[in-house]
Amino acid sequence: MNVSNLIKETNKQIEQKKKDFAEDIFKGLTQSPKRISSKYFYDDIGSELFQKITTHPDYYPTKTEYEILQDMKDKLPNSLSKDKIDIIELGVGDGHKTNLIIQGFLDANTNVNFYPIDISSKAMTLLEGSIPKHKNLNIHGIVSEYLDGLNYLKNQSENQKIVLFLGSNIGNFNQIESISFLNTLRNQLNINDYALIGFDLKKDTSILNKAYNDSSGYTELFNINLLNRINVELDGNFDLSKFQHYGFYNPILGAMESYLLSKEKQQVQINKISSTISFDYLEPIHLEYSFKFLPSDISYLSKNSGYNVVKNFTDSKNYFTDSLWKAV
Ligand code: AVI
Repeated sequence: MNVSNLIKETNKQIEQKKKDFAEDIFKGLTQSPKRISSKYFYDDIGSELFQKITTHPDYYPTKTEYEILQDMKDKLPNSLSKDKIDIIELGVGDGHKTNLIIQGFLDANTNVNFYPIDISSKAMTLLEGSIPKHKNLNIHGIVSEYLDGLNYLKNQSENQKIVLFLGSNIGNFNQIESISFLNTLRNQLNINDYALIGFDLKKDTSILNKAYNDSSGYTELFNINLLNRINVELDGNFDLSKFQHYGFYNPILGAMESYLLSKEKQQVQINKISSTISFDYLEPIHLEYSFKFLPSDISYLSKNSGYNVVKNFTDSKNYFTDSLWKAV
């Protein structure tokens, strides 16, 4: 696998990232209600914990989406280019799901260029071993932000493209952010290119609540790891045992929400932002939204960002949809 690293981080940029983290944490913990952006979940420990969540029996989205892709992989090449295709994946997982899509095209004798785009060069290395080699498959990893990677790809080939944005990652954006992201994505595509987007559907709240409160406590560790990250990177003294994870479905927002609650009245010192943060008993820190969708939400998003829905591929329990969109 070829890898282009578009993030040539200078020391100055690394310092800037640390500064941004410190500033965001200061802002987030001195406002009311307190909040930390979910984008900070994914350091090395957080990414490993997320992997564990995705394979846990209580977390249905990953396995449900796998089933959908398994079922649709041979149908997809019929809607798209027969000879050659560029498959672009935004954010790489462990390669399991993407492999299915790639295999569907290879089985249809299509030449495939696969361009995984991820901010983490580590994720790219991990992916490398999990996609079997094939004479009609060319893999070119791009380490960059999603939109920078897409922009770079614009001049790489004239082939028809399909962009994969799986796993209901779209659900961690609110509606305004989603439309803005999808519009920007649309501007990097040509008419007749495609996007395949994973949407976690609205369902019985007991299933949702179980998925975000897994019985092995990985989700709790995933959230609490953020406090550990603050301790390590910003010289904080959070006592991790004094916070508890609280995840629930908010029917007004149509989203799972994740919080950490302070188990007691306490103060926390964070030296690198020169702050002492006070917590009341049960005071929350908001960490994450994970929006859930109705089919009407999916068509609303597509219409408002420059695509037509070609087909919704949904599992038999109606838990999850991979929606195939054509750029118009
Ligand atoms: C990455 N994202 C789609 C996951 C989700 O389901 O919203 C993150 C996650 N948070 C807790 N469990 C999983």
